[in-house]
Amino acid sequence: VCRGLSSSAVRAAAIKHVTIIGGGQMGAGIAQVAASTGHTVTLVDTSDDILKKAVKGIEGSLKRVVKKKFADKPEAGEEFIQKVLQNVSVSTDAGAAAQSSDLVLEAIVENLKIKQDLFGRLDKLAPTHTIFASNTSSLPISDIASSTNRLDRFGGLHFFNPVPMMKLVEVIGTSATSQETFDSLLNFSKALGKTPVSCKDTPGFIVNRLLVPYVLEAIRLHERGHGSKEDIDIAMKLGAGYPMGPFELSDYVGLDTMKFIMDGELNYEEHICADMSLIDLFN
Ligand code: NAI
Repeated sequence: VCRGLSSSAVRAAAIKHVTIIGGGQMGAGIAQVAASTGHTVTLVDTSDDILKKAVKGIEGSLKRVVKKKFADKPEAGEEFIQKVLQNVSVSTDAGAAAQSSDLVLEAIVENLKIKQDLFGRLDKLAPTHTIFASNTSSLPISDIASSTNRLDRFGGLHFFNPVPMMKLVEVIGTSATSQETFDSLLNFSKALGKTPVSCKDTPGFIVNRLLVPYVLEAIRLHERGHGSKEDIDIAMKLGAGYPMGPFELSDYVGLDTMKFIMDGELNYEEHICADMSLIDLFN
C-alpha cells in the first residue's frame, strides 16, 4: 500500500536548506529547481572543475527558462537568474555542507557501496534533524540507509530527467521511514513545484518498474532482427504517442545508468518471483 500525506503533514518540518551531493545531470537539475523555488542549496561534487561546469549548466538552463517565462521583461528575467544563482553555493566538502542542512539529497554514481560510504560518513556529521534521501534509480533505499543510524529519517526522492521540465517526483518510504520524514519529503517535492507520488521501496519504484521491461523488449526486438532502432523509435513515437522512442530514451538517460537500472530490475524480478505467492498477488 502506498502512503499518502498524513494529518501530521502540517507538522512535518519544512525543508529550507538543502545539500545536494553530485553535480551531474540530476544533481545540477535538482539544485536549479530547489534554488528557483526559494531554497538555499549547497551543491557538492568531487572537484572545483565539475562544480564550475555544473553552475554554468544551471545558468544556461535558467537562461532558457527565462527566455520563455520573461519573454517581454528581459530585465526581470536577468534579475531572476541572479537571485537563483545567489541561492546556490558549491563545495567539495560534503561533511561540512551537511552540517547546516535540513536535507541531504544524494545524486552521485549509481553504486551501492559508494552511496553507503557517503551516508555512513555524513551520518556522524549531520545534525539530528537532517533528513537523508537518495535519488537512486535502481538501488533499494533500505540498503543505502543501512549504513546510517537514522533509518527513520531516510527516504527516497526520485526525480526525472531533465529535472526542470519533468513534473514527477517519486517519494519512497522504507518500512523504517517515519511518517513525519515522509511528509517532509512530500511537502518538499510540492514546494519545488513538482507532483509527488508515494511509493514503496520496491525495485524500479513505479515508473522504471513499467518502463524498463518495455525498453528491454525493444532491445530484444532489435536483436532478433525484427526492426531497426530507428524504426522502433519512430513506431513508438507515432504509434504510442511517446515523446521519445526506447533507444532515444536510453541514450538520454545514459547507457551506463540504464544498465545499472536493468541489472537491478532483473535481480528484483527474481526476488519478487521467489517472494511472492499467488495469494500475495491477488491481495
Ligand atoms: P552523473 O554521472 O551525471 O552525475 C554524477 C555526479 O556525481 C558526477 O558529477 C560525479 O563527479 C559525482 N560524484 C560521484 N561520486 C561522488 C562522491 N562520492 N561525492 C560527490 N560527488 C560524487 O549521474 P546522474 O545521471 O546525474 O545520476 C545520478 C544519480 O541519479 C544516480 O543514482 C542515478 O541512478 C540517478 N538517476 C538518474 C537519472 C537519469 O536519467 N540520468 C534519472 C533519475 C535518477
